[in-house]
Amino acid sequence: MLKENRLSPAEFIYPMFVTNGSGIRNPIKPMPGIDQISVDIAVEEAQRAFEVGVKAVLIFGLPDEKDALGSSASDPTEAVQSAITEIKLGSPDTYVITDVCLCEYTDHGHCGIIKDEDLDSEATLPLLAKTAVSHVRAGADMVAPSAMIDGQVAIIRSELNEKGFNDVPIMGYSAKYTSAFYGPFRIAAESAPKFGDRGSYQMGFTQSSEAIREIQSDIEEGADIVMVKPALAYLDVIKEASIRFNTPIAAYNVSGEYSMISAAGNAGWINREKAIMEVLTSIKRAGANLIITYSAIEAAQLLSRG
Ligand code: PBG
Repeated sequence: MLKENRLSPAEFIYPMFVTNGSGIRNPIKPMPGIDQISVDIAVEEAQRAFEVGVKAVLIFGLPDEKDALGSSASDPTEAVQSAITEIKLGSPDTYVITDVCLCEYTDHGHCGIIKDEDLDSEATLPLLAKTAVSHVRAGADMVAPSAMIDGQVAIIRSELNEKGFNDVPIMGYSAKYTSAFYGPFRIAAESAPKFGDRGSYQMGFTQSSEAIREIQSDIEEGADIVMVKPALAYLDVIKEASIRFNTPIAAYNVSGEYSMISAAGNAGWINREKAIMEVLTSIKRAGANLIITYSAIEAAQLLSRG
């Protein structure tokens, strides 16, 4: 009765890696239980999540073709756009969120256009906006720009408004740190940078008030939800943001956090189920309103068992 923090599947967001083709389930080695899946399987996964109370999904795409400009990111026939449309048909009440970034679509693996070995923000921003519009045209309920390029929320907001999508909210990956914990994701999304790292556009882990400034500026640019990512090494940032801002806060319990629990659980070194619940509760306790987690379905099942 006096439990101060209770988890609910309604606050979980379940990420999916969607590829072209059909009937495909390619296991992602460092993330047991999570696969690269084709659009038809993504529909089944969205239904499976919905049945246990997880009503929101976050979609990442694995395109057939990559090039220097990440051209396929806004292709209406690509995996993400097809998955959005098919999920909205097969599981109409599932809330579909998309990751808006170029790193899965560029052959060099960076989040935008590269000029002289540096990210060219001016050239990248319109492409991010075009990608977001293509997702919303396909039926996305919300877009989540994750490239960490200044101005990305503002340009997406104005493009969406111009196209008549004023009511589609934006979740900004506002405080996104350069992190070793994204390692398994880059295997899953085949998006590791071919040279350098993302240190020029993601935040260093020594920073705390910079995170607050990034969140503030995303709110000013029009973000409806702001995100802190990763979650576990940054619970202090989540806490601080939840105290300072009235905007809902999402926390991303990232791939490496999932892999660590999986690996230690499989080795019999920790109790996987207990660790998952403890971790998710810590993120909620820190002040997150929404938790993006690969454990969403499993945690919802554990919660229903009580
Ligand atoms: C960028 C993006 C990344 C993640 C989500 N969006 C990768 C990165 O910034 O390198 C990582 C999520 C995870 O590790 O689970 N599109």
